[in-house]
Amino acid sequence: MRGAGFIPWPHNWPVQSGDVSSFRSRLARWYRNNGRHGLPWRLTRDPYAILVSEVMLQQTQVERVLPYYEAWLLRWPSFDALAPASPADVIRAWSGLGYNRRALNLHRAAVLAARAGGLPRSLAGLRGFPGVGPYTASAILSFAHALPVPVVDTNIGRVVARAVHGQPSARASGPLRIAETARSLLPEGGRRARDHNLALMDLGATVCTARSAACDRCPLARVCAWRAAGYPLEPRVPPKTERFEESARFARGRIIEQLRNADALSTDQLAALLPAAHAVRIETYLAALARDGLIRRVGDRVSLASG
Ligand code: ADE
Repeated sequence: MRGAGFIPWPHNWPVQSGDVSSFRSRLARWYRNNGRHGLPWRLTRDPYAILVSEVMLQQTQVERVLPYYEAWLLRWPSFDALAPASPADVIRAWSGLGYNRRALNLHRAAVLAARAGGLPRSLAGLRGFPGVGPYTASAILSFAHALPVPVVDTNIGRVVARAVHGQPSARASGPLRIAETARSLLPEGGRRARDHNLALMDLGATVCTARSAACDRCPLARVCAWRAAGYPLEPRVPPKTERFEESARFARGRIIEQLRNADALSTDQLAALLPAAHAVRIETYLAALARDGLIRRVGDRVSLASG
């Protein structure tokens, strides 16, 4: 499995500077030839467009996001354009992407950004915006502003865990260790750092995936600690038992789906449209959806939030 000239990554920690520069240059060369450079959100530096893409991509696959992203930017090309939209229109335009709360948070973020004249250029400032977690904040700084910050999503975390820590997954390494290592790997200069972050992301999405590691196509194979250690397995975790159809998220999604197609429905009508196990919890779901600002309740009439 190991080709001639195999050089194991040294297992002492922190990594040596020579190893890091070899890691970076292998990765950079691979990215130039194999990166997903044509993705539309990589062809812009507009913080609004990048926020839209990152929020859409938070829990949804790239191929599914592409048409939504294009349509969204045509309809609402800026914070100023999105801010006056009604939450109901925003939720409707999001229809099919799932996790509707993301749409409302994006809208709220647009209202705040329009008022402030744009997004802040700091992690702390960005984290104050609804729906902007540590990943999205660092993605905006790196991808829009070319500031030299590490970006860690699921794919990047896995590549770092495998290549540097010799662990099968980010979970096995732990988030603090992943964050520390990601920072130590970052090249100098914001533009190089941006490409480096995107390269790790693409490597994790296309070569070093959760399901399989295509080491024959990997630029880091010769320095990969996981490969050198013989691909140790994931520590065992108890299986998750709840099926999606049994989850509150499923029920809440169904309620929003029904309201999209009707002006207003009564609590009983909504309950009747849910499986029995969820129908008995209708009040809990409606209260949570109202709290999140997704629906409006007037008497017993329930509708999508409109403004
Ligand atoms: N490019 C920039 N951010 C991305 C993301 N979250 N997923 C895929 N490609 C991206």
